[in-house]
Amino acid sequence: MTAKIIDGKAFAEALRIRIANHVDRLKSQHGITPGLAVVIVGTDPASQVYVSSKAKQTAEVGMNSFKHELPADVLEAELLSLIAALNADPAVHGILVQMPVPKHIDPNKVIETIDPAKDVDCFTPANVGKVQIGLPGPVSCTPLGCLMLLRDELGSLEGKNAVIIGRSNLVGKPMMQLLLRDNCTVTVAHSRTQNLPEVVRAADIVIAAVGRPQMIKGDWIKPGAVVIDVGINRVDAPERGEGKTRLVGDVDFAAAAENAAAITPVPGGVGPMTIACLLANTITTASLING
Ligand code: GUN
Repeated sequence: MTAKIIDGKAFAEALRIRIANHVDRLKSQHGITPGLAVVIVGTDPASQVYVSSKAKQTAEVGMNSFKHELPADVLEAELLSLIAALNADPAVHGILVQMPVPKHIDPNKVIETIDPAKDVDCFTPANVGKVQIGLPGPVSCTPLGCLMLLRDELGSLEGKNAVIIGRSNLVGKPMMQLLLRDNCTVTVAHSRTQNLPEVVRAADIVIAAVGRPQMIKGDWIKPGAVVIDVGINRVDAPERGEGKTRLVGDVDFAAAAENAAAITPVPGGVGPMTIACLLANTITTASLING
């Protein structure tokens, strides 16, 4: 079997058009222009790229975009007081602090300072709890993007055997909640899981979110499974010239595509969906804040 390649870039583009239409309606019918504040601490190049992309796409769908760049040695107290000011600013409906933050800053303090009503990452304990019991609110962006791609591919996910590899707060754990809500049977595998290849071979749906380049091998994939690769790993690519690099996922793409029914590529799969879902969450928070 040669897998269908799931085009996350095209899906995200279509989603952004729907979001832009929604923004137009919020403006014209309710006088609300959703605003997203993005805060970056330090100069990590990958984080800079993500944050610029988020700011650009926010403006493109007609929302207000507020970008705050703080130096790597900023005091934790200064960052927390910026977040408090954004919490109080009525023009701001969503707040995202790009992670990771430098080591002298406690990420949990950062997260707990964000007003849950403006928590577009769905990182705060209040919003994590809401997802768990099915109350309305923002939903973790990357897992939401994965879920949209899966529903588009499979229709109903009911009864599917889903294996998530990786148990992070950012992806693995919220992904587990969303798949359970869609009536999958969910297994969360991690670094201590025994006989991982056998666990993955039982999956109708594979979500790879370990952050290790091409760790999931092609012969681990059950024929006909749908594979969602969340990994974005930069590796050396000497075949492209000296010092060149390229992006690969957590799945050995070419080999997995021989077995899977459908698979997301890296880049161009889950990545574009994450930002589109961030914009969708900003609409959710703007609508909930304004009743
Ligand atoms: N760093 C990598 N991914 C993310 C994300 O989705 N949200 C935030 N805040 N930081 C990140």
